[in-house]
Amino acid sequence: MSNYHIKHLEEYWQVYRRSVRNPENFWEEIAEEHFLWRKRWDKVLSWDFSKPEVKWYEGAQLNITENCIDRHLATRADKTAILFEPNDPAEATQHITYRQLYERVCRFANVLAEQGVGKGDRVCIYLPMIPELAVSLLACARLGAVHSVVFAGFSATALATRINDCDCKLVICSDGSYRGSKTIDLKAIVDKALEECPGVETSLVVKRTGGQVTMQGGRDKWLQPLLDAADAQRDATIVDAEDPLFVLYTSGSTGKPKGMVHTTGGYMVYTAYTFKNAFQYRENDVYWCTADIGWITGHSYIVYGPLANGATTVMFEGVPSYPDYGRFWEIVEKHKVTQFYTAPTAIRALAKENLDFVNKHDLSSLKVLGTVGEPINEEAWHWYNENVGKKNSPIIDTWWQTETGGIMISPIPYSTPTIPTFATLPMPGIQPVLMDENGKEIKGNGVEGRLAIKFPWPSIARTIYGNHERYRDTYFSAYPGTYFTGDGALRDAVGYYRITGRVDDVIIVSGHNLGTAPIEDAINEHPAVAESAIVGYPHDIKGNALYGYVTLKETGEGRDQDNLRNEINQLITDRIGPIAKLQKIQFTAGLPKTRSGKIMRRILRKIAGKDTSNLGDISTLLNPEVVQAIMDESLA
Ligand code: PRX
Repeated sequence: MSNYHIKHLEEYWQVYRRSVRNPENFWEEIAEEHFLWRKRWDKVLSWDFSKPEVKWYEGAQLNITENCIDRHLATRADKTAILFEPNDPAEATQHITYRQLYERVCRFANVLAEQGVGKGDRVCIYLPMIPELAVSLLACARLGAVHSVVFAGFSATALATRINDCDCKLVICSDGSYRGSKTIDLKAIVDKALEECPGVETSLVVKRTGGQVTMQGGRDKWLQPLLDAADAQRDATIVDAEDPLFVLYTSGSTGKPKGMVHTTGGYMVYTAYTFKNAFQYRENDVYWCTADIGWITGHSYIVYGPLANGATTVMFEGVPSYPDYGRFWEIVEKHKVTQFYTAPTAIRALAKENLDFVNKHDLSSLKVLGTVGEPINEEAWHWYNENVGKKNSPIIDTWWQTETGGIMISPIPYSTPTIPTFATLPMPGIQPVLMDENGKEIKGNGVEGRLAIKFPWPSIARTIYGNHERYRDTYFSAYPGTYFTGDGALRDAVGYYRITGRVDDVIIVSGHNLGTAPIEDAINEHPAVAESAIVGYPHDIKGNALYGYVTLKETGEGRDQDNLRNEINQLITDRIGPIAKLQKIQFTAGLPKTRSGKIMRRILRKIAGKDTSNLGDISTLLNPEVVQAIMDESLA
């Protein structure tokens, strides 16, 4: 028997050691005993990090939706698969059973097939957190088509870039979306994006808000009538374990976003296994992850991981502050949520509000609290533990990435003793290493370095869509023979890991990864801007906020600075989305540069963070005099 479900610390160590001693054997047993394969694999694993190439369960065939839906019908047909909680609390909750989910996915898959979508085709999904979002992922997977979900807070330009990068022929969107008291015209954003996307033949439009939309003849089609006419049954297209399941974009420190490609078999096994263990999921639990399905957290731990385990997964359309700051806790109470998984930025925002918002709700159903997306600070950890968990629910600080597909380092609740701000121990099968700046592994405990992983796990991304070389350069060249995460970490005296943050030019704002380069590119498009540099600085709620240093062309001098700031932020909103707006913009006469012309972001970061006591040696700069000027003028 495989150790699919770990129940105490001794067992964790036993399983962990086995998983490292004989990974093939470990992942073979789990795959064999807990999933439905149409054909068995010929080889469990082949890999070479120098190419890089990783293949799990090669030769096996399956369809992930048979694992997430069909196989549950015998025992769980009437169990709620998706529990949908709308933005407006007055609107009824929807309980979508496994049987209903099966029918909805089959109908949707039939509609997609009628529109010409087949195995391997890419479909872009740009939807709010409504049931059709989860259904559309699964409908693509049913056909062996590759979904590319774009978070519906991204701008038309960002959407167009992503659609074109992976040659999507069809887009699924909605008329609009609700977020708290706001209504957003999503279709108008899609219309604008599609002006730049000649490859898109069809867009299917879900009616959500009933707002005014323009339907372009021949291209745009309302989804509902097509669904009504479609058959509620469709055989799953059987794919190879290594066929792509989805592409999901993540920001890099430079250049355009990276379309991470995840394949089917290994991703399914790893997300299901980690869901079961990290959340200690048991039948009849009600599990809620507050992320958006537009991010990897939603893919792996709202859709695939939970459904592969036959779980009930909550999907929430709204925001934590609407109609008031008690909304999360109202939902926990209403549905007796057992596992609650959110981001540190949400915890910090809620911790600022009156405790009554928490205390007036019965949260006694909670058993496990999770966090993800960025380091959680100690204060937020304690607030979460004391006020939400009442010191009774272990907090799992889960470290992972879009690229890793699933949770990599996390406590196993009720087994691993937790320490605030520590992600603690690797999941079975994960072999973290810390590297020094010269590329040497730092052994032993009580050490700090750069976090890399030295052995493949089943859900590692296989490539960057259309750019394997960039995949190799970004992740496998810093420390040859290992996967480099881009994060720094320390390993304490007992071997627990604490993630200390990014060591590259990616800034995490409210849990969203933002590369500095695309934001600077957007700013530089402003006709009055000569040059700009973006850095992150500590922010109470967002974790980091963005600070922009902007030098103006002569034409910009003398212009009203507040107007300029608004125009710059508008450009960023148009090119990327409101999440990338700058909190502070300082106009400066120059930016500190090395003699080779590289902007010294390290110095700018210190000034933005008001940490100027030790700026290091600035005498080697091309223009040391600008540093003092920037400090003198830095924004309060
Ligand atoms: O820096 C780490 C941070 O988020 C990055 C990955 O971001 P993304 O691909 O958007 O995926 C987020 C959701 C999985 C990591 O490189 N990060 C994520 N989780 C944690 C974290 N930093 C500290 N602690 C965490 N628990």
